[in-house]
Amino acid sequence: MDTTISEDVQEIANDIKDIALKLEGKTLLVTGGSGFIGGYFLDVISFLNEHQFLKPCKVICLDNLIVGDQKRFAHLLKKDYFEFIKHDISKPFSYDRPIDFIVHAASVASPTYYRQYPLETIDANVMGTRYLLQLAKDKKSQSFLFMSTSETYGDPNPENIPTPETYRGNVSFTGPRACYDESKRLGETLCMAFWQQYGVPVKIARPFNFYGPGLRLDDKRVIPDFVNNALHNQPIVMHSDGTDTRTFCYISDAITGLFKILLSDFNGEAFNVGNDVQAEVSMLQLANMIKEISGNNIEIIHKESTDKHYMTDNPRRRAPNLDKIKKLLGYQPTVDLKTGLKKSMGWYKSTYNL
Ligand SMILES: NC(=O)c1ccc[n+]([C@@H]2O[C@H](COP(=O)([O-])OP(=O)(O)OC[C@H]3O[C@@H](n4cnc5c(N)ncnc54)[C@H](O)[C@@H]3O)[C@@H](O)[C@H]2O)c1
Repeated sequence: MDTTISEDVQEIANDIKDIALKLEGKTLLVTGGSGFIGGYFLDVISFLNEHQFLKPCKVICLDNLIVGDQKRFAHLLKKDYFEFIKHDISKPFSYDRPIDFIVHAASVASPTYYRQYPLETIDANVMGTRYLLQLAKDKKSQSFLFMSTSETYGDPNPENIPTPETYRGNVSFTGPRACYDESKRLGETLCMAFWQQYGVPVKIARPFNFYGPGLRLDDKRVIPDFVNNALHNQPIVMHSDGTDTRTFCYISDAITGLFKILLSDFNGEAFNVGNDVQAEVSMLQLANMIKEISGNNIEIIHKESTDKHYMTDNPRRRAPNLDKIKKLLGYQPTVDLKTGLKKSMGWYKSTYNL
């Protein structure tokens, strides 16, 4: 495993070591395990198995590799506790042994790609979520975590930023982002229906712009895009005027938060996961930070994207209200943007030989 990822994993495992005992000797199903977030889940469990648990937690990883890469978990393929099944989660899945925990992190997640695969995106979040909830019901699983998104809030009006979980959203249901935003919203509705009707112990996470090692350089989200420019010594290309803002959250903080939700008893609840509003930066500030960290004296330019819908319905400002997850689960992001970007750049350089 890469050194930066392995340092992060160790930190996460240390932060959750007490609550993680719930996973000892159990079986966890992770969908989207070859992706950015799912991959970290696999590595954290592997670390706990190797260093803390007396009886390993078995991990089943489901992914159809539509955007993920099997290389992400190549180091786990020989482990007895790990099983990869290539499977499209929008089709039913059966398994003849117990499944105690489920993390549903499979969906095309990058706007550029979900606009290319709108139906696959809808299917993963609607049919996929429904089949997995049925599986959780049949297996009497102890906890089910659905990876929703802050995009369920759409483009919130200013008085709803930082956005609390109670905000109902300002979302286009026909625009180019609707396949993602609306299918995540229905995914959440399905979770709540299985909780209300059958008592399936669901939890919902709404991530706000996670970044870090494992987010592929060709993912087309803004941080890998800017890093790609900078590490190739080319101008950093902004597709907006640079004033849009985001609160980026480094992956180790994010995964710690997600485990806290999964292993909690807050069934039928949704939690924002992200970084504090104090961490909010504009795209121009982000470009400048990446330029500085790269050490390359490059220009920062504005150029419209060749993807004609790149900016359509793109929220101008996005920041979470984190009161709920802090108060109920003791969540506290700790990695500032500069530190997180330095770690990420180190990973991009070594992984892509840049
Ligand atoms: N990274 C973020 O900041 C962020 C923000 C909001 C929401 N999310 C959500 O978190 C989850 C994981 O995101 P990520 O950033 O790791 O994305 P990612 O693109 O890195 O990984 C997603 C994985 O899901 C797999 N997948 C997609 N459709 C599938 C299907 N039908 N069957 C099986 N596998 C399938 C892909 O091959 C990929 O490996 C997604 O549900 C995403 O919507 C992530």
